[in-house]
Amino acid sequence: MPAPLSQQDRELQKLLSLGGAAPPEPNSYPFNKIGAGSCGAVFAQPGSALAFKLSKTTEFSLWNDYLQHTRIRDMLRAHNIDINIPDCHGYIRAEDAAATLFDKTPALADAARDVCHLPTRVLVTQRINPLPPTIRTLLTNKYCAPRIKANALADPANRDCLVRVYLGSMAGKTGGGMFFSLRNFKLHLNHIIDLQLNLRNVCVQMARSLAIMHWAARTDARDVEFVLGSSAGLSRRTPAFSSAEIHAFATEATTFPSVGPDERDFFCSTTQLWLLDFNLVQDIELNDNALDKLVSAHNANDPYYPKPCQEHPVVEGLWNDFATAYLDTAALVLQNEEDSKTLELPSRFIEALISQEHVKKQTKEH
Ligand SMILES: Nc1ncnc2c1ncn2[C@@H]1O[C@H](COP(=O)(O)OP(=O)(O)O)[C@@H](O)[C@H]1O
Ligand SMILES: [Mg+2]
Repeated sequence: MPAPLSQQDRELQKLLSLGGAAPPEPNSYPFNKIGAGSCGAVFAQPGSALAFKLSKTTEFSLWNDYLQHTRIRDMLRAHNIDINIPDCHGYIRAEDAAATLFDKTPALADAARDVCHLPTRVLVTQRINPLPPTIRTLLTNKYCAPRIKANALADPANRDCLVRVYLGSMAGKTGGGMFFSLRNFKLHLNHIIDLQLNLRNVCVQMARSLAIMHWAARTDARDVEFVLGSSAGLSRRTPAFSSAEIHAFATEATTFPSVGPDERDFFCSTTQLWLLDFNLVQDIELNDNALDKLVSAHNANDPYYPKPCQEHPVVEGLWNDFATAYLDTAALVLQNEEDSKTLELPSRFIEALISQEHVKKQTKEH
């Protein structure tokens, strides 16, 4: 007969058994505000993979954010679209937020109190990793006015660096202005052309995602954001050798690359396109009214999407890539659709963007 286990031994036995899970440690790391918009303020702890979007309003729009985020995520995955969208970990109602979150993480309540009326609704998502220090320094050196550069380089807020890609704007400035922020840094098309940066893949990922949001998720994609951030996981800087390659060596060989011992020398984050912010996204019905809604949402968005009818060859190329990728993806999504009027909607959307640009040009000329 084995001796009866003490309370501590029973606990150890439970935790060491496969699947055993230790209770969470009290978490006292501070939270920082990493971003804010009109609906929410977003908080995260340094090094943590979670982002907490706290509602700043009494409206219901954070619940809509959750509904649309998860639907669009599912549709992008179902159609194998090559864009990143944060994982959605869960939603907390305002009336549950004290017991579920704020009482347990007073540091979050402390950070949020000045910005939000607590308790408030919370959406917990995967944090998009910021772009790394080398990129942040290069962006600051190139685009920040010299007299505020030292402050910009030292400002911890600039560590939360995401870059908005404005393929539809040539209005980017360099080196002017009183303020400089790497939070949602706006990279305009004239910057992109000046850097000879090939963003065709970004353009195609944007177009495919928009087609999915329109025709698979059946939404107007209003006010969504496209940003460059870092990859969710680290990838190896050099390819690993396969077992066959190692066995083919005649004798022992060095296979570790000549870098430092730090794992950051060995693994790196890569720049990726992310899609976020779904609180203003509205459902559409597949009928004639949809077109007006889609065009109006498209015009209201920040200028992420390339514009038609522009003379610059790079811009023209981007628009052609955008329109082709959008129409191809829409055709795939709607391949089983029998109603011919519905099938025409994607090309009518593209035509509507072209004709409104013609009208704009004519009005300018007169
Ligand atoms: N999951 C996330 N990871 C990293 N940064 C984020 C994340 N979600 C939002 N942000 C940052 O916070 C800002 C505000 O969040 P957003 O969802 O756009 O709020 P709003 O609906 O108020 O515009 C974003 O523009 C972005 O810079
Ligand atoms: Mg936003």
